Amino acid sequence: MSTSGQVTIADADYLRIIIHGTTAFELLRTALEFDLFEKLESGGPATVEQVASALRVDAQPARILLLGLASLRLLEIQEGGYVNSDVVRRKLLRSSPRFLGPLVDIQDRIINAGMGDFAESMRRNTNVGLRRLGGPGTTLYERLTAHPQLQQVFYANMSDASRHAFAQMLDRYDFSRVRHVIDIGGGDGTNSIELARRYPHLQVTVFDHEAVTQLAAQRIDDPDLCKRIHFRPGDLFTDSLPTGADAILYFHIFEIWSPERNTELLRKCHAALADGGVCLVYSFVSDDAGTGSLTAGLVSPYFLTIASGEGMAYSPADVRRAVLDAGFSRVECHQDLGFSHALVVGHR
Ligand SMILES: C[S@@+](CC[C@H](N)C(=O)[O-])C[C@H]1O[C@@H](n2cnc3c(N)ncnc32)[C@H](O)[C@@H]1O
Repeated sequence: MSTSGQVTIADADYLRIIIHGTTAFELLRTALEFDLFEKLESGGPATVEQVASALRVDAQPARILLLGLASLRLLEIQEGGYVNSDVVRRKLLRSSPRFLGPLVDIQDRIINAGMGDFAESMRRNTNVGLRRLGGPGTTLYERLTAHPQLQQVFYANMSDASRHAFAQMLDRYDFSRVRHVIDIGGGDGTNSIELARRYPHLQVTVFDHEAVTQLAAQRIDDPDLCKRIHFRPGDLFTDSLPTGADAILYFHIFEIWSPERNTELLRKCHAALADGGVCLVYSFVSDDAGTGSLTAGLVSPYFLTIASGEGMAYSPADVRRAVLDAGFSRVECHQDLGFSHALVVGHR
């Protein structure tokens, strides 16, 4: 492991990590469950016996965990003991700015079991993997309303991912002339809260399922934000959208649905906007060639198998086409954003 952020790996080992993916994931998740990385960071280099004692397990299982993590280059040996590697310090300590714990949690609690149904989901072209989670509706979002603890796991990750990705969006798009924003499928309100904080004149309305808008409302205690952030519970497909706003956030919604359903929803957004209004479609995207990014390739099967049975990380060209098909007269496309995201702005 180097400090440059690059890991060089032989083809055979790369394949091995994919084939033994479940074991590799469990090594990492178990280290987090035992707070191993935190303990090594505060305690310095540790032998097998010292780690076994800190984790309150026998030496043999501790040895197996340490061996596995070192083989994955998450740990190294220094001064005769195990220490965290650079990538652990950057992404797997709770204090690190880009801590990936919430992503590990959602994979563990919500995604991994259902992904075993990917092949069957392909055959039936629907989200067969959702059968493992009882509750109302045919999408993960509806089912989660019956599982408050899993819903928290979901929004902890969504909110963490959105906070990082949204910061770059805010640097790119100026809302100073916008008066009222509707945040379609606004989730736990993370983006609305960030936006309202950055622009103290803005009114924002979060539109989502009722169980979700309640979650968002609970997160806001600042009296100024309480006055400016509003909630409209409803279903995107069957209820009408609030009208008259001059901007709509369509954030992490495009990747959920088929191109046709997105066009239908974007038409609805177009109709709800005031003249001159804009719809900002901000989503995970793949490249135009269909070869990456790795993030796009790895999140797409989840949308088919579990989330909705129809979405994926589309290319920016797909997003652009749907926005134009929905009736927007002009489209702005920002493709050079990080985190495998693009922003496509439709002007009414
Ligand atoms: C992937 S999350 C995105 C949350 C937020 N926009 C963000 O970027 O962090 C998708 C959101 O869309 C909402 N959603 C999905 N289907 C919906 C529907 N039919 N009606 C209303 N909201 C829906 C879900 O409840 C969820 O909060």
